[in-house]
Amino acid sequence: MFTWKHLAIAAGTIALTCASIPAATAAPAHHSRTVAASTKANALTAMHGEAFAYAKYTAFAGQAARTGKRSVAKLFLKTASVELNDHFADEAVIAGLVGSDAANLADAIAGETYEATTMYPAFAATATAEGCTVAADLFTEIAADEAVHAAAYQTALTSLSDASVSVPAPQVADVVTIVKSDPACAGQTLTNLLDAMHGEAFAQAKYRLYATHAAKTGHPAIAALFAGTAKVELTEHFAGEGVLAGLVGTNAANLTAAISGETYEATVMYPDFASQAKAVGDRAAAHEFWTAGRQEASHARAFTKALRRS
Ligand SMILES: [Fe+2]
Ligand SMILES: [Fe+2]
Ligand SMILES: [Fe+2]
Repeated sequence: MFTWKHLAIAAGTIALTCASIPAATAAPAHHSRTVAASTKANALTAMHGEAFAYAKYTAFAGQAARTGKRSVAKLFLKTASVELNDHFADEAVIAGLVGSDAANLADAIAGETYEATTMYPAFAATATAEGCTVAADLFTEIAADEAVHAAAYQTALTSLSDASVSVPAPQVADVVTIVKSDPACAGQTLTNLLDAMHGEAFAQAKYRLYATHAAKTGHPAIAALFAGTAKVELTEHFAGEGVLAGLVGTNAANLTAAISGETYEATVMYPDFASQAKAVGDRAAAHEFWTAGRQEASHARAFTKALRRS
C-alpha cells in the first residue's frame, strides 16, 4: 500500500537526486531553499500532520459549536488556522512544494490519478472483502470523483499551452457534516479510512497553496479550479471518511485526542526534526521546526486547560 509515509520517502529520494545537480540548473530560489533530502522528507511528514490536524480540528470545532461550547469551538478553529496558515505554509517553503502552475497541475494530476486508479479501488476491494459495504461504496464514489479531478486538471494543463482550451469549473462539493460517530468498520478498512483522510487533508492544503500561486501568476480560472477541488477534498471526501472512521467524539474525547497529538509533535517529532536539520546544516529549517514545536506545546497547554474546564 502506498501511503503518505511513502510519499515523504519518495520526495526525499527526489531531493537526493536533485542535490547532485549543479547550482546553475537547480530550482529557482522562490521555488525552494536547497535543503538536505532528510530535511525535505521531514518537512513533508510534518506537513501531512499539520494538514490532518487542520481538518480534524475543524471537525472538532463543529462538534463543540453544535453542543454549545463556543469557547472550545473558537480554540479549535484558532489552532486549526495556525496549523494550516503558519506551520503547513512555512514547511511547504522548506519542502519546495509549490512550483510553476504547470508543475503544480502535473503534480495534482499524478496524485488524483493514483487515488482514482490504484488507491481507492484497492481500498474498496478490501472493504468489500471485510464486509464493510458502506466504506466500499464511499471509496468507489470517491474514486470516480478523483478521476473527474484528474481530467479537469489535465484540461487546465493543456489550456496553458493552447489558448483555445478553457479551464473547467471545479466540481461542486456535496458537503458532509462530520457528526459524532463510532467507527463503521474495523480491521484494515479502518486503517485505510485514516490513510485516505490523511491524503485528502494533504491534497486540500496543497491545492490551496497551488490556488494562491495560480492567482498570483494571472490564472484566475486555474486558481478557482484548485480552490474548488480543495473544498471537495475536505468537505466531502475527508468528511465522508471521517464519519465512517468515527473521527469526532465527545468534546472531552476530542480535546484528549488533540492533546495527545500536540504533545507528540511538541516533545518527539519537532525536536527530532530540528536536531536532524541542525546536524546537516539546515539552520532555517531547524529554526522553523523548533518554533513549530514550541507552538505545539502551547496548543497542548491550551487544550489541557479547556479540558479541565469542560
Ligand atoms: Fe481529488
Ligand atoms: Fe479526494
Ligand atoms: Fe498544534
